[in-house]
Amino acid sequence: MLSETEITTVEIDLLIEGIWRIHGYDFRDYARASLQRRLSLWLSNSGYANFGSALPFLLRDAVLCNTLVQGVTVNTSEMFRDPLFFKILREKVLPYLSTFSHAKIWLAGCAGGEEVYSLAILLREAGLEDRCRIYATDLNQDILKKAKSGIFPLRNMQQYTRNYQRAGGQAEFSDYYVARYDRAIIDSQLTRNVVFAAHNLATDADFSEMQLILCRNVMIYFKLSLKEKVLNLFDRCLTAGGFLCLGSKESLDGRHIAPDYQETEPRSRIYCKKYISPAKRDIS
Ligand SMILES: C[S@@+](CC[C@H](N)C(=O)[O-])C[C@H]1O[C@@H](n2cnc3c(N)ncnc32)[C@H](O)[C@@H]1O
Repeated sequence: MLSETEITTVEIDLLIEGIWRIHGYDFRDYARASLQRRLSLWLSNSGYANFGSALPFLLRDAVLCNTLVQGVTVNTSEMFRDPLFFKILREKVLPYLSTFSHAKIWLAGCAGGEEVYSLAILLREAGLEDRCRIYATDLNQDILKKAKSGIFPLRNMQQYTRNYQRAGGQAEFSDYYVARYDRAIIDSQLTRNVVFAAHNLATDADFSEMQLILCRNVMIYFKLSLKEKVLNLFDRCLTAGGFLCLGSKESLDGRHIAPDYQETEPRSRIYCKKYISPAKRDIS
């Protein structure tokens, strides 16, 4: 006879496999401990006694499954999160983008849009707003709606203003939003060159010819095999000389693509893709 813990493990395996096969959400290669924690939290709010009794309903009900996806994905973010990162982006990467008449940027795992608006502000301040297109993607459709709305709690603006200034911002941060009661509504013109789209890094197709890819604080939830898969995806999408940006707790150390990349500054997590002749790539 299996113990309760072992039964729960089997039920979670079945649940992950089931929602992948029926609804197309693939959590099979997410790091198990944090996934299990978040699933348990979802279960305790769901009214079901255990995963076994929730499973038949999850398989048949896309809306219920969506609540689980909401619960499993961690959407925490901040505008100008890790200000030093944005400072280096401004100083080292924007000059590279300015060499293009038109540059493409992929922001993968954009959550509620905090990072999208931060980047759009940098581009505006560098005069690159109309020469860059940002593709802001996330697997979570509900959080994408929030990102598009550009509405944030007003109480967060103090912190975001400090982050903006630490990232080298010289303007009045309050010029980028209007306050309405307890909300801050971000200047909608900032996203006129942003395409928001659902995209699942575990299962969906490549984007082509990006000059800059940001995927910060997303792969920390993935197992190594999925990290490698996603990094290979980014490598295929990024032009030589382009930049790949990861979160502060992530790195390319030991990853398959690492030899083809050079970190811009130590611990910046901003990696430049080296120019390598196709012949050399084939040999390695
Ligand atoms: C912690 S947030 C990071 C937000 C932002 N990049 C930042 O650093 O502030 C992680 C985001 O990744 C998204 N995500 C998780 N797995 C994903 C996948 N397989 N494909 C696309 N997005 C994913 C989640 O929905 C969530 O919005």
